[in-house]
Amino acid sequence: MLSYQVKNTLTRMLFKGDFFEIISKIKNRVLYSNTDKISKENEVYLEKEAQSISSFIDGIDPVLAEETQQKVEEIRVNGKKTLEKIYYDLGGGGAYDLLYFLIRYLKPAVVVETGVASGYSSYASLEALEANKSGMLYSSDFPYFRLKNPEQYIGIIVPEKLKKNWKLYIKGDRQNLPSISSQINRIDIFHYDSDKSYNGRKFAMSSLDEKFTQDSVIIMDDIQNNDFFFDYVRERKISDVIIFEFEGKFLGMWMGNNVTQKLIKK
Ligand SMILES: C[S@@+](CC[C@H](N)C(=O)[O-])C[C@H]1O[C@@H](n2cnc3c(N)ncnc32)[C@H](O)[C@@H]1O
Repeated sequence: MLSYQVKNTLTRMLFKGDFFEIISKIKNRVLYSNTDKISKENEVYLEKEAQSISSFIDGIDPVLAEETQQKVEEIRVNGKKTLEKIYYDLGGGGAYDLLYFLIRYLKPAVVVETGVASGYSSYASLEALEANKSGMLYSSDFPYFRLKNPEQYIGIIVPEKLKKNWKLYIKGDRQNLPSISSQINRIDIFHYDSDKSYNGRKFAMSSLDEKFTQDSVIIMDDIQNNDFFFDYVRERKISDVIIFEFEGKFLGMWMGNNVTQKLIKK
C-alpha cells in the first residue's frame, strides 16, 4: 500500500500538475500539526451549544424531516452495498441528512462541496436536487494516494442517473475552488468536508468569499479540529451560527439574513 502512495504522489506531482496541492498538504502536516488545535474555551463552547440535527430539522418541517430520514436510510443501504464490493475502506459519510434537508427546504440553484470520498454527501445532495428538479452540485476532491488508481473511487456510490446535475473536480481544493468559482455567480449552500487544517479552511473560505450572499448557508465539518470556525465567525461578527453534534464530532453552520428568516425566525 505504501508503494501506491509513493508512486501516486510522485506521478501526480510530476505529471498531473498537483505539485502545489501536495506540497501544501505536507507543509500543513509537518509544520502546523502541533499548533493546529482547538482552544479550551472553544471546546467548552461546542459542548454547551451543540444540538442534534434530527431535532433541528424536525422543528422546522416534520414532514420533510420524515422524507429526509427515509432518503438517508436508502442512501446508507445503497452506499453500503456498493462499498461491500470494494476491498478498501473508503470511510462512511458525514451528516448528509442535514444537507438533504436544507437542499429540499431552501431549493438552492448552486451547491458547492469539498470532500467527496466515496460520495455520501454528494449522493444525498444530488438526490435532493433531483427531487427539487433544479440546481447543480459542484464538488471538489483529491484522490486517496494510498489506493491503486484512486480516481475511480471518488463518488463511487453516486448512481449514474443523478450525475447529470453534478460537476466533479478532482485536482484538490487549491486548483478546484478557483475553477469552480469561475463557473458560478453565487453559492447558495456550501459544505466544507475536505482539508481540515486551519490553512486549508482559510484558503477555501477566502477563495469563495465573494460568492456568498444573504441567501447562503455554510456548513463546516469537524470544527472541533482547530479554531478556524470560531475566528472566522468572530472576525466577521456573524451571529447566526448553529452548532450540531454528530457522532462525537461537531459541525458549524452559519447563514445569511435571508436564510435565518426562513429557517429560524419563521
Ligand atoms: C471526510 S472525506 C469526505 C466525506 C464525504 N463528504 C462524504 O460525506 O462521504 C474527506 C475527503 O476530502 C478529500 N480531501 C482532503 N484534502 C483535500 C484537498 N486539499 N482538496 C480536495 N479534497 C481533499 C479526501 O481525499 C477525502 O476524499
